[in-house]
Amino acid sequence: MCNLYEKLETCLRSVRAKTDFKPEVALVLGSGLGDYAEEIEIKDTVDYTEIEGFPSSTVAGHKGRFVFGYVKETPVVIMQGRVHYYEGYPMADVVLPVRLMGLLGARKLILTNAAGGVNFDFKPGDFMMITDHITTNVPSPLIGPNIDELGVRFPDMSRVYSERLCGIIRRQAEELGIGLKEGVYMQFTGPAYETPAEIRMCRTLGGDAAGMSTACEAAAARHMGLEVCGISCITNLAAGMSNQKLDHKEVQETADRVAEQFKKLVTAVIENI
Ligand code: HPA
Repeated sequence: MCNLYEKLETCLRSVRAKTDFKPEVALVLGSGLGDYAEEIEIKDTVDYTEIEGFPSSTVAGHKGRFVFGYVKETPVVIMQGRVHYYEGYPMADVVLPVRLMGLLGARKLILTNAAGGVNFDFKPGDFMMITDHITTNVPSPLIGPNIDELGVRFPDMSRVYSERLCGIIRRQAEELGIGLKEGVYMQFTGPAYETPAEIRMCRTLGGDAAGMSTACEAAAARHMGLEVCGISCITNLAAGMSNQKLDHKEVQETADRVAEQFKKLVTAVIENI
């Protein structure tokens, strides 16, 4: 057994000492969506700091806990605050929380994030369903000894974002009258926003949105066989696409402006999952 799996088992024991809640769906909340976790029927919470061996988040505005509870009838575990590669953690630690939610029983994963719009058709406040991703700017979370208990050495990534779940997102957005774009998410390391040249590269390579998370989590989740989907909130036009300088405040403000719609969509997806 490899060290990483032992670490995961230690984390799992830590969480299981605090709750025996069995989630079906795991949800990762991006910027601006954080308070969604407070709106569900909460059964238990576990702070990341209470979990032995867990990488705890350092980003202001990211809370750092698992929230267990129900969205209508569906048992969920929500990551309120994710771990980012730019915080300095090894990739294996960045994806540890997602793997842990899988080991806690969740078989479906909904990823959300704030992202810069790269596609010229996108505007701030749009939602983009992630249809595929490009991770070549960041190391793979699967580098290192394979965790055989989770999945195979060379996992297939030809359909990371489940066709079934994408169908549910499309249908629910339409029923709610929420506009939905679709596209490819490219993960950058951050923490600096990209340069205009990097954004042109992203577009040339087929990227529609740029961000600093998510794709590595999706890859780790697919490795262990979870059914994955993702929605980006396009909070700004990416670097070089407007005269405006990029700053976290704008990202936060846009995310806050559309948070209610984002939450409605996420709720509807979970209810129909
Ligand atoms: N780039 C990367 N990450 C982001 C952006 C961006 O423009 N906006 C929100 N997160």
